[in-house]
Amino acid sequence: MKRIAIYNAKPDMVIAKEIYGRNGRLLLNKGTVLTQKWIDKLYLYGVPTVYIEPERNLSEPVRGIEVLTPGRELTTDRRCREDLPDIVPHIIREEAEQAVREIMQDIKAGSLFKTKKARAIIEKIINQLIKNRHIAGKLADIRILDDYTFSHSVNVCIFAISTGIFMGYSKIRLRELGIGALLHDVGKMKIPEAILQKCGPLTEREFEQIKKHTVLGYQLLSDNREITPNAALIALQHHECYNGSGYPRGIDNKDIHEYSKIVAIADVYDALTADRVYKNAILPYEAMEIIIASGGYQFNPKITRLFVEHCEIYPVGSTVELNTGEYGIITDVNRALPTRPTVKIIKDAQGNEIDNGAEINLMEKPTVFVNTIISFRRMPYL
Ligand SMILES: [Fe+2]
Repeated sequence: MKRIAIYNAKPDMVIAKEIYGRNGRLLLNKGTVLTQKWIDKLYLYGVPTVYIEPERNLSEPVRGIEVLTPGRELTTDRRCREDLPDIVPHIIREEAEQAVREIMQDIKAGSLFKTKKARAIIEKIINQLIKNRHIAGKLADIRILDDYTFSHSVNVCIFAISTGIFMGYSKIRLRELGIGALLHDVGKMKIPEAILQKCGPLTEREFEQIKKHTVLGYQLLSDNREITPNAALIALQHHECYNGSGYPRGIDNKDIHEYSKIVAIADVYDALTADRVYKNAILPYEAMEIIIASGGYQFNPKITRLFVEHCEIYPVGSTVELNTGEYGIITDVNRALPTRPTVKIIKDAQGNEIDNGAEINLMEKPTVFVNTIISFRRMPYL
């Protein structure tokens, strides 16, 4: 199977892996033959990538499950797109998810958990990210929509290790950071499921109980001799804030371990982008704006800047609307300031298509900015 960006999906391609929502609801079945209607709906729901069969196989089409709301046809410009390389291969992700699942089951059963498998997977992830470091910078591509409970842990682990690589960490530190990030939320296994799964707002008492997952997780990890003290600290500190407004202890930047500062950002970013399929359609660039706005308050500003610099919030090839009313395609991303990419104009403000439009570097045009990405959304004039 092959993972491709949704904007490269074409009718008649066959889905090779089920696409689930965060609540475990099946959006599209494995074996579904894609139609333009399905592709457009996946766009609208912000699904970034899909797995497809390498060969077309139309002999036994399987229908998708009609859970997405029918919408009008969406047309988007798909020039400048290339298949996404898998930064971390699917098989390694699955192994990682399985390792987390087994550890969580052991914890739930009250038995001592083993980390050998998880540590072996983390080694593979580190090697993969180092090998692919030229593309691993594209953090926005890292997250995969899947079984949320375990994929969230794996996504956070991959985000954290990537950030550690950007920070020049040694392999020893990457391993510590990786295992702590993978197991940052294990304390939740000790919180009653009724509270964890509650849909409505939490009472103050329930929230106090949820907060305990940090201390409980720290105890679980500290009791395990295979986990180093700094890795265990991640479970305790990943909800602490730069300005001291977090929990459980309300410590501030100077007392929070650097690993925990990294995981705090990775955790929130992944949780925000995970929500997009369900309700508020939080897209990577919207999540990034929240992360940027939280730098200096919730998050350490230096690590926030690093994270933002490596997150391609407007991927090359995205169609965007500028505040001038023009439409363009992102042709280059400015690493230092990803909100100011280079845009090739394809439509003027009156909606007239332009051949060979001008290329505008938004770094040089401070009054021009991207209003919105329309590759993932219905075009307003349709
Ligand atoms: Fe947490």
